[in-house]
Amino acid sequence: MTDILFTPTTLGDIPLANRIVMAPMTRSRAPGNVPTPLMATYYGQRAGAGLIVTEGTSPSADGLGYITIPGLFSDAQVQGWRGVTEAVHAKGGRIVAQIMHTGRISHPDNTGGLPVVAPSAVAAQGQMFTAGGMKPLPVPEALTEAGIERVIGDFAAAARNAVAAGFDGIEIHGANGYLVTQFLAPNANRREDRWGGSAENRARFALAVLDASIAAIGGGRVGIRLSPGNPFNDIADPAVEETYTHLFRELGKRDFAYLHLLGPKLDFDVPGLAKRLSGARLILNGGYDRDRAEVDLAAGRAEAIAFGTGFLANPDLPERLRRRAPLNAPDSATFYGGDAKGYTDYPALAA
Ligand SMILES: Cc1cc2nc3c(=O)[nH]c(=O)nc-3n(C[C@H](O)[C@H](O)[C@H](O)COP(=O)(O)O)c2cc1C
Repeated sequence: MTDILFTPTTLGDIPLANRIVMAPMTRSRAPGNVPTPLMATYYGQRAGAGLIVTEGTSPSADGLGYITIPGLFSDAQVQGWRGVTEAVHAKGGRIVAQIMHTGRISHPDNTGGLPVVAPSAVAAQGQMFTAGGMKPLPVPEALTEAGIERVIGDFAAAARNAVAAGFDGIEIHGANGYLVTQFLAPNANRREDRWGGSAENRARFALAVLDASIAAIGGGRVGIRLSPGNPFNDIADPAVEETYTHLFRELGKRDFAYLHLLGPKLDFDVPGLAKRLSGARLILNGGYDRDRAEVDLAAGRAEAIAFGTGFLANPDLPERLRRRAPLNAPDSATFYGGDAKGYTDYPALAA
């Protein structure tokens, strides 16, 4: 019997040859925020995934919180990404761009001096790597109403640029404490207007970004990633179940490609609640191996499973999982920045 992991499926308009997704991973190898031929090699090597989700990619200059991460708001960036999508498509793979605005997890040294923006003027605890070394995360500027509308428009424009660059779609980064999560979380969002306060108001930004992206390129090409209860990047929500119950219910009113979930185990069944309320096709991620992936797929808890570090270190991960072959170990020293070392030089299995 074929394992479900190796059977095809579809997420919205996107056909997947198998259920193995490459999770989005920032690698900080885009000097000037423009994708390079080396990045095309890296993603091309991993085209055996049913779907690749790119590293977090900014929709605007003020969303470039980390040094040398790529954007999707200039012609040069669209051109650079075209090399990546062509390399993946030439090998029969599928690839979506993860659109990430970092919000308050940023530093003006990385945004070309542009203000760091967030729902409210509340700094996250932590430091940011810049060309001048590690610096404390700054107190961000609270976005004005017009600023919020501008950022929503930037997400939609990035979605259009993604299609122009040859992507099969986009994934909105609503996880891990970046701008969309900052709106969702009461400790980062202290607004008293329609964008803050109740769960309904805190979810408004995520839904507005989703709706604008759907209007821009069609729901069949738009996914969203969420991480309920994940404290990463100084996020806290004492009523996380209420927040995400509302959000999942609202997602259920919309037609989009998939919901991608990761996060800690909470005292309620997050994927189960998400499936029941949103009816979305689900990708689950976080610490999966082949056997656990197969169990969740067989139980109908998800349509596909994403692998992060497993894919980072194994360009031929689906083939290795199929053969139950040993995996290369990831080297965290080369995760961010640098060159081909720890990037395109992880070996594939001998044919
Ligand atoms: C080097 C590295 C960079 C990451 N960058 C991103 C990112 O840009 N966007 C995102 O949503 N998650 C990011 N993540 C989280 C991964 O997508 C994934 O959730 C995490 O690695 C857990 O999956 P795993 O247990 O299969 O590795 C990153 C993880 C790693 C290791």
